[in-house]
Amino acid sequence: MATAARKLGARNIASRREYQPYLEAAWGLKNHWYPALFSHELPDRIVKGVTIAGHEIALRRAKGKVYSLADRCAHRGVRMSKKSMCLTDEHLTCWYHGFTYGLEDGVLKTILASPDDAQIGRVKIRTYPTYERNGIIFVFVGDENYRPIPPIEADLPIRIVDDPTGNPVGYLLDDNVFVRGIHRTGNSNWRLAVENGFDPGHVLIHYDNQIVAATGMALILGAEPMDDRAIEIIDQPDGPKGIMNMYNRLESYKPIYRNDLVNIETPGKLQYYVRTSMFVPGVLLVEHWPAANWAQYEFYVPIDDRTHEYWELIVGHCNSDDDRREAEFRYKNFFEPLGLYDFNNRDLFAREAMEDFYRDMDGWSEEQLCKTDAIVVGWRKLAARFNRGIQEPPPGHGG
Ligand code: FES
Ligand SMILES: [Fe+2]
Repeated sequence: MATAARKLGARNIASRREYQPYLEAAWGLKNHWYPALFSHELPDRIVKGVTIAGHEIALRRAKGKVYSLADRCAHRGVRMSKKSMCLTDEHLTCWYHGFTYGLEDGVLKTILASPDDAQIGRVKIRTYPTYERNGIIFVFVGDENYRPIPPIEADLPIRIVDDPTGNPVGYLLDDNVFVRGIHRTGNSNWRLAVENGFDPGHVLIHYDNQIVAATGMALILGAEPMDDRAIEIIDQPDGPKGIMNMYNRLESYKPIYRNDLVNIETPGKLQYYVRTSMFVPGVLLVEHWPAANWAQYEFYVPIDDRTHEYWELIVGHCNSDDDRREAEFRYKNFFEPLGLYDFNNRDLFAREAMEDFYRDMDGWSEEQLCKTDAIVVGWRKLAARFNRGIQEPPPGHGG
């Protein structure tokens, strides 16, 4: 018994070495694009503050363009987003003593009560590359001088072209798509959120979700990888890096619908095709979910080392006003309540339940993984290999 336990321990350590940088990434992966706000959350003349991987960022829209700057005034260190002060379309003014920065370059342009001050033109706060598309504002977070800035496509799931149903799901950045969703804060490290998102062993937690009962779908209890073809690594040059559960290969990924020992069986009977994949820096794609021909995207954006912002988006093709009206109806009355809330609440619950084990009880060494965790380990290796840097803890937060 002792030998077996020691052997298992040794195996854990050997495999952990292969993804060591990931174990050090409590604050996230840096030099990647992350969603910061929905467009509708940032009206004109409002300054909004977000925190991503320890970076405090102020966002402001002017003449239709969104700017992101460090959300700490250089003068006395207050967060400028605490009180919006937007006097022109070119500047962001701190509400306290009026330090006024250029939106484009972050340089101090004037001080309201000291217009001849020697600090003007000398002091600067940093700016962040920002991109807005289909109702979502993304910010590139990491080293100030990181160049070249990669295209956002490199940090999103691939565009699906082949699809066993013949009907590939829509792509987030396309012109003719419907994109809607929510975001909320989860009380767990971002890595636990990612690892839950596409774990083929976790589907059990959705056993009795409303969507399962309402549609009668035969949702698996889990899926067991049978050979190497169960998982596919996606490594596009200068493009997305990800790992895909090949649920469409039934000989490689055995869907489990019942367990005789404890006499449990998935309640639904309707066979249903769905596939999940995870991309660096932690973006989930679920094809044909919450309904056929729709896609769900999820982002697990590190806030600090113990919380993440959980983004849940529904994406679908939409070519006409009628399509859009119908999508709106289904989103409001089906996708959001049953998919984004009832179904995903279980995921959020599970991640938060793991947090103290991994944070306080050395869970990264103590966990005893099983066969269905192969893809979780695959993800850890992928993230350790393809990240553009490991985010250091911000000043004052130790190591
Ligand atoms: S703290 Fe911002 S102007 Fe003084
Ligand atoms: Fe889930």
